[in-house]
Amino acid sequence: MLILTTEGKQFDGLEEQSILDAALKSDLVFEYSCKNGQCGVCKTTLLTGKVVELQAQLALTDQERREDKILTCCCAAATDLEIDSVDLSALHGIEIKTLPARVSHVAYLSDNIVEVRLRLPPTANFQFIEGQYADVIWNSIRRSYSIASISSEKEITLLIKRFENGQMSDYWFNKIQANDLLRIEGPKGTFFLRDAHQPLVFLATGTGIAPIKSILQSLEQDANYQQGNPITVYWGNRFPEEFVWQADFHKLKVDFCNVLSRPVADWAGETGYVQDIALTRLSSLGNTVVYACGSNAMIQSAKQQFIASGLPENRFHSDAFVQSF
Ligand SMILES: Cc1cc2nc3c(=O)[nH]c(=O)nc-3n(C[C@H](O)[C@H](O)[C@H](O)COP(=O)(O)OP(=O)(O)OC[C@H]3O[C@@H](n4cnc5c(N)ncnc54)[C@H](O)[C@@H]3O)c2cc1C
Ligand code: FES
Repeated sequence: MLILTTEGKQFDGLEEQSILDAALKSDLVFEYSCKNGQCGVCKTTLLTGKVVELQAQLALTDQERREDKILTCCCAAATDLEIDSVDLSALHGIEIKTLPARVSHVAYLSDNIVEVRLRLPPTANFQFIEGQYADVIWNSIRRSYSIASISSEKEITLLIKRFENGQMSDYWFNKIQANDLLRIEGPKGTFFLRDAHQPLVFLATGTGIAPIKSILQSLEQDANYQQGNPITVYWGNRFPEEFVWQADFHKLKVDFCNVLSRPVADWAGETGYVQDIALTRLSSLGNTVVYACGSNAMIQSAKQQFIASGLPENRFHSDAFVQSF
């Protein structure tokens, strides 16, 4: 089956392979994050042809189905197709690799957050764009984690939240030992800074700060980057001790707004939801581009509210930390 995009790119689709995987195999990169139908990042319009659903398109509303929207991570081509997906050339040449990774450092930053550094083989040449994630594989369990470090660093750093009864949480919080051997597969995802020369709003909940930390640190270290527009980070947590990262920038000017979801004694910052606070504080959207990472509930609410306030959909980028199946 031949799959054609509105940009005029074309590639082969197989009945048993998602359109997204078929594109990736042909060195085309469309927007994606979770790859399991939950986040909606890979949503596009089916212009002609028919698809088969390989896994449930959970993120689609009934209205979107009626409008011929599909999730490219869930559907395969049943006939020749034309779709409205855009190839992200910035990610061309970034190869997804499976590599051994040794645990080199473990630091518990709070009862429920751990920072883990992984050392890759010296010859690995693991390249990524700040904001992307990798899958970590331990004992046949596979989970996705955003990379919190920057690409010029030798090791990769992850910021991991504990989930009650979580299989990987049990490893990270009870079993991990320095020098343990894991595997990683990556880099993955399309959450990266499209254009640094625009007003930037970052929204994060919990460890959703990880890729934002990576993006901001790469800007801080970029000798060619001159900041001409405001950068604001709204970071939400449930408890004050979960604000485990304090930025220390010399060049970048970033306005940080820490937000607690529920008021507690002695909290001088904002309380509520990051998306509500951000929208209240922004006097006008102008050319603002929004990058949101963390809980799917925050991302879906933020997207809907920002779009309702006039933000074009293509200026909202997100990475939802949804559950793995
Ligand atoms: C693209 C992507 C990037 C991610 N990056 C990070 C990251 O940088 N840091 C980080 O801490 N996590 C991240 N996650 C989430 C992570 O992959 C796991 O889902 C999470 O760590 C839980 O795994 P677990 O094995 O401990 O729990 P599981 O054994 O999978 O589940 C245990 C319990 O927790 C619930 N649960 C599991 N995962 C979630 C979830 N994500 N949201 C709500 N409930 C859940 C399950 O329903 C179950 O009841 C990311 C997810 C994705 C898709
Ligand atoms: S729904 Fe397809 S990438 Fe998340």
